Amino acid sequence: MAQPQPPSPELKYQALGDLRHLRRSALHSHLRREVDALADDTRRPLLAAFLPGNLLCWLGRYLKYACHRKHPFSTYPAVGEQGVYRLADTAKVSLAGDWGTGTREAAAVAAGMLAFEPDYTIHLGDVYYVGDATEIAENCLGKTEYGYQGVTWPHGRLGAFALCGNHEMYANGTAYFETFLPALGIPASQDRRQRASFFCLENDHWRIVALDTAYNSVGIPVLEQIPGINRIPHVGPDCRLEKTMLHWLRTVVRPQDPDRRRATILLTHHQYYSAFEDAYHLPAQQLRQLFCDQDLLWIWGHEHRWAVYGRYQPGPLSAYGRCIGHGGMPVSIASPKPSRLASGMPLQFFDERVYTTEVHTRMGLNGFLNLHFEGRTVTLDHRDVAHRTMLVERFTAGGNGTLAQEFLRADPALTDLRPRAAGVPTGA
Ligand SMILES: [Fe+2]
Repeated sequence: MAQPQPPSPELKYQALGDLRHLRRSALHSHLRREVDALADDTRRPLLAAFLPGNLLCWLGRYLKYACHRKHPFSTYPAVGEQGVYRLADTAKVSLAGDWGTGTREAAAVAAGMLAFEPDYTIHLGDVYYVGDATEIAENCLGKTEYGYQGVTWPHGRLGAFALCGNHEMYANGTAYFETFLPALGIPASQDRRQRASFFCLENDHWRIVALDTAYNSVGIPVLEQIPGINRIPHVGPDCRLEKTMLHWLRTVVRPQDPDRRRATILLTHHQYYSAFEDAYHLPAQQLRQLFCDQDLLWIWGHEHRWAVYGRYQPGPLSAYGRCIGHGGMPVSIASPKPSRLASGMPLQFFDERVYTTEVHTRMGLNGFLNLHFEGRTVTLDHRDVAHRTMLVERFTAGGNGTLAQEFLRADPALTDLRPRAAGVPTGA
């Protein structure tokens, strides 16, 4: 099991506050990377990075990335490794999203995940700022590239996996596919290293299906930044699922095959729905035929927050949404949109607690999610950056693909929007 490296006294972790205002766009991410480079150079003030001359310099770098073709979409060979891995009936899996910042908080989240002693770990994607080779090396592989103390993505007892995020695609996905993936998978066998940005873990009752929504999450350079224009198909990001991935899902995983029916946990980087932000509906439309007759437990990141929803049914799929994009980025503290709640968005829990470790006071707490599978049940233990339990819930798989959900324990400090009659035991 890979262990995070101990901090070196000569090195420092990336500061979480430095990432506070990073927006989820290619333009802004490249800019912030240049800002950080300047911040390490005491001969120049941080603000200088925003002067027009530096902006043009940075823009050239951005266009250099943007004008390259993105990395080919990797898939599995016709024979041999197919990306479906065995999960024991009793098994532990630890998840984090938007974790790749290299901050001390990211290191704390990694340590918390390892303390769970998981069989597998899964990153839901996003390595900052642009997920290129040096950032993957420093923020995921524990190497020192920019003078910061590197942080290692924690590996489970049997293996580790990672989805692709939009930030990795800002550098065309090359480092994700060529540097990060070869370090993932099941290391006991070279044939079982992670070869693609989608995969499946399954036992007789449960199936974790991880799908890549990030490969098509970056639109046409510059135009994708323009409101209105970026809503034109194929100009802005739509997160559509690649045809080869859908073919793998239909022919290898075969969720519609009566002999292969399982309760399904779907993992994606992008949100299916949200009470806080815009969402991406196209993947659900593409998956409608495969999962229309069952409930999904759908876990995503991308939004830098933690949120728990009841069953959402207005869309193409019936899903219990869980947003865990609080793994490493500064966590957003924002109220849900009243119009979304008024229209029936089933937000149940979110976290408005303020993280006071740094001088930047209006940040929330980072965290991660532990899954404990035991036969037909899976227990979800939502943890914060200090490894404290926030919420414990349990899902039970029905024989026909349905899910029964119950809350077991909740920290009373969480914001609870459920009807009072629901009554959840409190105290973590
Ligand atoms: Fe993202």
